[in-house]
Amino acid sequence: MARRKIVAGNWKMNKTPSEAVALVEELKPLVASEDVDVVFCVPAIDIIPVVEACKGTNIQVGAENMYFEESGAYTGEISPAMLTDAGIKYVVLGHSERREYFAETNETVNKKMLKAFEHGITPIMCCGETLEQREQGVTMDFIRQQVKVGFMGVTADQAKASVIAYEPIWAIGTGKTATTEQAEEVCAGIRACIAEIYDEATAEAIRIQYGGSVNAGNAAELFAQADIDGGLVGGASLKADFGKIVNYK
Ligand code: PGA
Repeated sequence: MARRKIVAGNWKMNKTPSEAVALVEELKPLVASEDVDVVFCVPAIDIIPVVEACKGTNIQVGAENMYFEESGAYTGEISPAMLTDAGIKYVVLGHSERREYFAETNETVNKKMLKAFEHGITPIMCCGETLEQREQGVTMDFIRQQVKVGFMGVTADQAKASVIAYEPIWAIGTGKTATTEQAEEVCAGIRACIAEIYDEATAEAIRIQYGGSVNAGNAAELFAQADIDGGLVGGASLKADFGKIVNYK
């Protein structure tokens, strides 16, 4: 069975609530698609107005982070129940920017993964190597570690429904996209790792995105690869180009 493509925008720390609604209104007609799951992952404060603005469209809304406790004394954090109550379906977990600037680790990502499933939120778990790791030839070792720890305790059924985003750190926001061969090689390696942890059926079902300078010009070739099931898109998700990426064919 063919996997359905999923194209998600990662807005990062961009757009105030009113700007967010304006962007949704601009993109709505452009991202209409029958064949692709479309997700806008937006800053926490934009979630409520964006969910409202996306009502009646094919757009699902995601968060960019979430905490792994239910509630309590965690000043500044957002709980999974807050997200689901606001209409969130997806959450980006372990983005490299969160790992780098906010001390996210494979272990905290794992706790968040388990919590997301408990609340019926689909995680988009990010992984990816630095340029140094690529040059030293340890890309796959590093990513296998991220995937194996990230999925600890996750059942096969939960894994089947999840999304992994492969984002080489050196390709994020740099305009330097991985070559199609590099992206496909790692995405296939991640699928093989999932087959080792679970089984072939789980590996066949899980969706693996490529992220890192995806744009209207390179999306079609990247998404045509056997193991690339769509993209996680940063910069280009904030402009009309995102419509072209969703409708890449
Ligand atoms: P980019 O970001 O498309 O701007 O490279 C991708 C991401 O960080 O998810």
